Amino acid sequence: MIEIKNVRKKYPKASDYALESVSFSINTGEAFGLLGPNGAGKTTLMGIITTLILPTEGEVYIDDEKITRLRTDIKRKIALVTQHVSIRRDMTVNEVMELAGRLYGLPVKKIRERTKEILQFTDIYDKRKLVARGLSGGMQRKLMIARALLTEPRIIVLDEPTVGLDPHSRRRIWDLLVSLKKKGITILLTTHYIEEAEKLCDRVAMINKGRVSEIKEPDCMIAELGRYTVDIFENDKTRSLFFDSREAAVEYAKGISSDLKLRETTLEDVFIAKMGAELGEKE
Ligand SMILES: Nc1ncnc2c1ncn2[C@@H]1O[C@H](COP(=O)(O)OP(=O)(O)OP(=O)(O)O)[C@@H](O)[C@H]1O
Ligand SMILES: [Mg+2]
Repeated sequence: MIEIKNVRKKYPKASDYALESVSFSINTGEAFGLLGPNGAGKTTLMGIITTLILPTEGEVYIDDEKITRLRTDIKRKIALVTQHVSIRRDMTVNEVMELAGRLYGLPVKKIRERTKEILQFTDIYDKRKLVARGLSGGMQRKLMIARALLTEPRIIVLDEPTVGLDPHSRRRIWDLLVSLKKKGITILLTTHYIEEAEKLCDRVAMINKGRVSEIKEPDCMIAELGRYTVDIFENDKTRSLFFDSREAAVEYAKGISSDLKLRETTLEDVFIAKMGAELGEKE
């Protein structure tokens, strides 16, 4: 279990807090999505959980033990896949894995065994002799996940693992995350692909301006907004209205003369509705 307790972060020279007293827990084996606009504090929070960034206040506990930079034993349980691709482009896939293993002090025999297993699992084994530069964006992302799995972490933290990938590559990464979840690995991730988070995550948190506003199951958030959406297209704008039942939505739609569409509500609607409300947007 990950417990985040009253974490605040103010970067040197910044006038505002990047994180304002954030507290919540993530259960063992859970897939947890952190959703928020640019600059919300997602990367900062992930950095603090993995000790890359020091909090100004507060602490993080992993299985009831406080994680600090010196606790390499706890740090081994948790791996971070960063937002930006961070692999040496002149190294082969095998070399990237070996270097990471050596940095963690794993015996070479163990590194080789694990590398084969993980590269097969992540479906890049046939690329093992290629230099990273020669890999597609999707494969580079897979390699980052593969590298993170080397120490057999129980928790994997992924900061926008599918950013900039085409739909096929994205789907492959999400399939990979589903298999990690099936293995019982706890997943914490951020993404702007909210539909994908809706499918994978047991719970999601909405974060904006350093504050975590709400933590719930995706389906529960959708039900609260209203399971059915009527999109009304008028004057080059789309206005969406939400209803608890299809009947209520149909009844409303009957009285509208503009172009419209009735559909099921998604988590993305919830995100847009909540973030729009926080930004003070009007319809
Ligand atoms: N090293 C830094 N020094 C000063 N301010 C920073 C630093 N890193 C982040 N910030 C600020 O902290 C806030 C949160 O940034 P953060 O990178 O955590 O957001 P994010 O939610 O990950 O955004 P994105 O979706 O764009 O990745 C922003 O206002 C950002 O400008
Ligand atoms: Mg970020």
